[in-house]
Amino acid sequence: MKKELIELRVNGLTHELAIEPSALLLDVLRRDLDLTGSKRGCDDSSCGACTVLVDGTPMLACTLLAFSCEGQEITTVEGISEHGSLAAIQKAYGDWGGAQCGYCTPGFMITVKHLLTVNPDPTEEEIRSALSGNLCRCTGYTQMYAAIKAAIEAEKKGMATLK
Ligand code: FES
Ligand code: FES
Repeated sequence: MKKELIELRVNGLTHELAIEPSALLLDVLRRDLDLTGSKRGCDDSSCGACTVLVDGTPMLACTLLAFSCEGQEITTVEGISEHGSLAAIQKAYGDWGGAQCGYCTPGFMITVKHLLTVNPDPTEEEIRSALSGNLCRCTGYTQMYAAIKAAIEAEKKGMATLK
């Protein structure tokens, strides 16, 4: 298929790329931009591993045309660190052992980042509801939720980490 030029804004940088009109955002991020943090778990919008922010809204890159994102700001897990330091959620995952295989982790982190933007002091129920579209096959969720709650507390206190 004939390729067409697109300008994509990803993690604060503008990229001019030649891609097929049918290219999915997840493929463009991973294949053309080498941003392999976003993962392909199911490929049918059911696992959340490919979650990215598009103009601040969580979207599933596995079923999103890259061309539909032109002119919008895309944020991947590679873009959530702050001033060269790990974001609170990234630090907390390390501190609390939030990941096992780590395949689901980028999607969870993006969803948590969005949650904390729209609701900096979520209840347990609100956290679980916000994360209901992200699936993990490894952790049993206990350590992951400990990490997420620690990140929320750290952010509320303006700290990078509680440990
Ligand atoms: S890979 Fe996109 S939702 Fe599973
Ligand atoms: S840590 Fe392996 S799928 Fe979540």
